[in-house]
Amino acid sequence: MSDMKATLKVDGIDEAIDLPVHEGTIGPRVVDVGALTANDLFTYDPGFVSTAACESQITYIDGAKGVLLHRGYPIDQLAEHSDYLETCYLLLYGELPDKDQKEKFVRTVHNHTMVHEQIRTFYNGFRRDAHPMAIMCGVVGALSAFYHDSLDISDEHHRQVAAFRLIAKMPTLAAMSYKFSIGQPFMYPDNSMGYAENFLHMMFGTPCEPSRISPVLAKAMDRIFLLHADHEQNASTSTVRLAGSSGANPFACIASGIAALWGPSHGGANEAVLNMLEEIGDVSRIDEFVARAKDKNDPFRLMGFGHRVYKNFDPRAKVMKEAADEVLAELGMENDPLLAIAKRLEEIALSDEYFIEKKLYPNVDFYSGIILKALGIPTSMFTVIFAVGRTVGWIAHWNEMISGSYRIGRPRQLYTGYAQRDYLPLDKR
Ligand code: SDX
Repeated sequence: MSDMKATLKVDGIDEAIDLPVHEGTIGPRVVDVGALTANDLFTYDPGFVSTAACESQITYIDGAKGVLLHRGYPIDQLAEHSDYLETCYLLLYGELPDKDQKEKFVRTVHNHTMVHEQIRTFYNGFRRDAHPMAIMCGVVGALSAFYHDSLDISDEHHRQVAAFRLIAKMPTLAAMSYKFSIGQPFMYPDNSMGYAENFLHMMFGTPCEPSRISPVLAKAMDRIFLLHADHEQNASTSTVRLAGSSGANPFACIASGIAALWGPSHGGANEAVLNMLEEIGDVSRIDEFVARAKDKNDPFRLMGFGHRVYKNFDPRAKVMKEAADEVLAELGMENDPLLAIAKRLEEIALSDEYFIEKKLYPNVDFYSGIILKALGIPTSMFTVIFAVGRTVGWIAHWNEMISGSYRIGRPRQLYTGYAQRDYLPLDKR
């Protein structure tokens, strides 16, 4: 670390406080505030807008320039030339695999795609109309009951097996949550297929006939998983890190990530975008909804717009928009009314002073739902698919933390409640 420093002068404290400043490879420098507690001071940063919670080498985002790098590789290059499992390897191990490494990695994932037959019975405990994200929170957390006692998180091999189990089983569990909701039999994974092809097979295949998955649609599904793979210290990844910092097993940590992702401000936005587009219903009503989004007294927000970090285009949204055009053209749905509404909404929003001033651009969730709907995925499954893609990011960050030195995460607070007071007997209140 460098010997740069910041000097803090605080009213009421005679001595200035010197705080070390550290510089990363690229991106903002950080001020190490560890010395503040000795001066009876905390930092205050609700929502962690200006807080670097950890050091990481996995993903870098430049929000001003709309740049997203996974281990240094730009997301648009990975989306064009790579595939999801190769990107999983990159995120986990830091380098692109050679041919043998890639084949071994894919083969190992294939060895873990099935789930224990007992897990199939968990689904029967849910109502058929349960939201698939509720099911996923339950069944992924339940994986802890099958593996946590065969997992020493300090053992690198155990951590690797947990990573393979989670990456491989998430599509199987996700497809099972869909099949359960429509009363169709679960489909077993078919390891002769690619990762995304296998997922679509488990989603839409039936025991009555062989699956015929269009390579174009499988590629689109794979690209969606790839674009959702990781995104630095977002809310769900930070949740996984915090859960992992207590020493909890990775299955419980990933279940906590799924729960955090579900919110409409985060991964739940893709489902909310589709519901919003359907509520708008026609391009003639867009102005009404844009006006509501700008009205401080109306809680409505344009779902799929805005981002804590991106104050420029989300590079994933650009790729997703291209993929939406390709998939809808492939399916002969170029005139999909929802796509027309989405494109017109984007045009209007991007030329509106409010959105320009607040730097609100389409994010990863704005176009993904249109592709998923065109693939025949029900809206309620959109966030589940986000969770499938993000599992590798969550596990890569968990592993990066656990394999290094770490302490339990324990933030403090600005307390504005009562100072100490004595108990009042009932007859004195
Ligand atoms: C994801 O962190 C990640 O990396 C997340 C993610 C990932 O890959 O993990 O990228 C995935 O979660 C993408 C974001 C999906 N969410 C949505 O699309 C929901 C709609 N957008 C928002 O609610 C909002 O933009 C957030 C949650 C994404 C960001 O919220 P911030 O950073 O806390 O910003 P803010 O709520 O303070 O908004 C700043 C201003 C506010 O106005 P003022 O109070 O300053 O007057 O912009 C306004 C907001 O009212 N604003 C919006 C808006 N988003 C922000 N106004 C209308 N519509 C919107 N969508």
